[in-house]
Amino acid sequence: MRNFLSVNQLNSKEIFSIIEAAERFRNKQLSIDKQVFAANLFFEPSTRTKMSFIVAQKKLGIEVLDFHSEASSVLKGETLYDTARTFESIGANVLVIRHGDDTWYDELIHGLQVPIINAGAGKGGHPTQCMLDLATIYQEYGYFNGLKVVIAGDIKHSRVARSNAQALKKLGANVYLSAAPGFDDPLLDFPYLSMDEAAEICDVVMLLRIQHERHEAIYRDSCYLETFGLTRDREKRMKDRAIILHPAPINRGIEIDTSLVECKRSRIFKQMENGVYVRMAIIMKLLHEWGIINDSIEKRNKTYAI
Ligand code: CP
Repeated sequence: MRNFLSVNQLNSKEIFSIIEAAERFRNKQLSIDKQVFAANLFFEPSTRTKMSFIVAQKKLGIEVLDFHSEASSVLKGETLYDTARTFESIGANVLVIRHGDDTWYDELIHGLQVPIINAGAGKGGHPTQCMLDLATIYQEYGYFNGLKVVIAGDIKHSRVARSNAQALKKLGANVYLSAAPGFDDPLLDFPYLSMDEAAEICDVVMLLRIQHERHEAIYRDSCYLETFGLTRDREKRMKDRAIILHPAPINRGIEIDTSLVECKRSRIFKQMENGVYVRMAIIMKLLHEWGIINDSIEKRNKTYAI
């Protein structure tokens, strides 16, 4: 794996290998004993992804080159490619990029000689979010095959839905979607359920916020929670072991009743915690495969081997 751009790049064995490596990083402190720089180039807002990449990098002893697009030469017209190429030239060893274009990486991968991690591509994909979601489900159940997982919300505009549906299908889960009219996506070929049906039959209820920033018109529905969201009544009808996931940010009282955000079934903040270790595993895998960290480092610390 030269770059981490999409979950479609990974086979099942590689997915399990990253989940297992993340678990090892949770339990072991380590630091790369050579100078490595990471640049986090976020062209869209982020709290969790950006900060958990920074924590992951700092835990690994990587020096973080922070970047704020609104205070950068992007304002003078510099392109994404030239910005990324600049960071490569000044010594960044790995680039973490979020951008509003669904396939922003297509123009970068042939010109750059440095590993690139997709931290969100428009409504195209969010592979590190997907990996942390998978790690959270695996932590709960220990398998994927046959699990019933519903992804519910603004499917059409969600990069998280796209990445998760594809990866969960590959791992043998039964994937369902649930969406308000107009939020469904005909390009995703999975059965649709109402929220009432989804709450009753699924082992994992993964909620998504309405992606207002990707809508052409303002969406308003004062009955959205009652009709399409996870209400307290629907939560009561969930299976005993069923869990609630949400990539966040959460719109409390819209896709989920606010009292459920931290209820017993919710793994929402656990997902964020897991994101740090999953991102450590992905960064280390790429640094190793590019030879940026070498076998002697790996031998000194078996945790690296993934
Ligand atoms: N889940 C997620 O991508 O959150 P941020 O937009 O805050 O990074």
